[in-house]
Amino acid sequence: MGPLSAPPRTQRITWKGLLLTASLLHFWNPPTTAQVKIEAQPPKVSEGKDVLLLVHNLPQNLAAYIWYEGQMMDIHHYITSYVVDDQTIVYGPAYSGRETVYSNASLLIQNVTGEDAGSYTLQIIKRGDGIRGATGHFTFTLYPKLPNPYIIINNLNPMENKDVLAFTCEPKSENHTYRWWLNGRRLPISPRVRRPIKNRTLILPSVTRNEKGPYECEIRDRYGGIRSDPVTLNVLYGPDLPSIYPSVGYYRSGEKLYLSCSADSNPPAEYSWTINGKFQQSGQKLFIPQITTKHSGLYACSVRNSATGKESSKSITVKVIGKWIPASLAIGF
Ligand SMILES: *[C@@H]1O[C@H](CO)[C@@H](O)[C@H](O)[C@H]1NC(C)=O
Ligand SMILES: *[C@@H]1O[C@H](CO)[C@@H](O)[C@H](O)[C@H]1NC(C)=O
Ligand SMILES: *[C@@H]1O[C@H](CO)[C@@H](O)[C@H](O)[C@H]1NC(C)=O
Ligand SMILES: *[C@@H]1O[C@H](CO)[C@@H](O)[C@H](O)[C@H]1NC(C)=O
Repeated sequence: MGPLSAPPRTQRITWKGLLLTASLLHFWNPPTTAQVKIEAQPPKVSEGKDVLLLVHNLPQNLAAYIWYEGQMMDIHHYITSYVVDDQTIVYGPAYSGRETVYSNASLLIQNVTGEDAGSYTLQIIKRGDGIRGATGHFTFTLYPKLPNPYIIINNLNPMENKDVLAFTCEPKSENHTYRWWLNGRRLPISPRVRRPIKNRTLILPSVTRNEKGPYECEIRDRYGGIRSDPVTLNVLYGPDLPSIYPSVGYYRSGEKLYLSCSADSNPPAEYSWTINGKFQQSGQKLFIPQITTKHSGLYACSVRNSATGKESSKSITVKVIGKWIPASLAIGF
């Protein structure tokens, strides 16, 4: 074996570290014990993710750990090593810039690529009675990256109980399955909802104001899934039957009349008031500072939603009692 060629990136290589590393490479002996275990977390990894090769049952009194790519423990496959005494990390020719060795010997590989798949070997150098080695061997398999899903909808502003909605999860892939989520929960199976083309499309024959979402679709392979960005619908509805407050219409002459009308609607309803069928004003609130008996009559609030084209109205009877009626008689109302 030749001398250590300059590693791609070198951190504080001291003479001691370099010599130790070089000598470890020379004097390594075949494995005597097999209790060291290497475990990958997660065990299956998709392209672009990180994998941590966890080392268990590490013996006591160690001098160094060396990680190799593949099963050959030579300089060409030498990724990185950790020297316990001076806590030095040394990088070798096989170091890609994405590996981090920890003081507990575990190795983190970030942003895994297809080229990272395969086996890794850990060489453990014990201190004391000469230099001895132990290897752990580990293989991980890389799965193709899942495509990032997104939702296409035929109508983002559907009308309540009217428009048919078709959601499609893109991109199309024969090798994956599709799932739908509403409000962070799997969309339950129901006869109302159809899921043609193997769940890639979701068809809602109608939608209510409570079903505005967020909707998410998920693309899955055997090992997991990725969800799309959530999509929220702007369900157009209403106006519902308005309510008028206060709903009791008895007043004394000279009092203020202050009526407020409200109806649930999206977008918000346009309001108008009529008294005895005659237009009075637009707006949600009706205010008359000092009413007289002439203000008695039928007060109607009309609501209209131009997006849905729907209208509704509600009326109350307002009765104004003349001032001259003693309070004791007015109580009966
Ligand atoms: C991993 O990939 C991300 C995104 O491409 C990048 O920002 C980051 O620097 C990469 N990390 C390493 C250690 O290469
Ligand atoms: C080793 O250290 C890494 C980083 O601190 C940690 O994530 C990992 O759990 C440790 N391994 C063990 C076996 O404790
Ligand atoms: C689906 O899987 C097959 C067999 O594994 C592969 O040949 C094909 O390229 C894959 N198709 C897509 C769109 O990934
Ligand atoms: C479609 O989705 C339903 C409900 O999530 C599931 O039970 C079914 O297996 C899925 N079908 C396919 C072909 O993925």
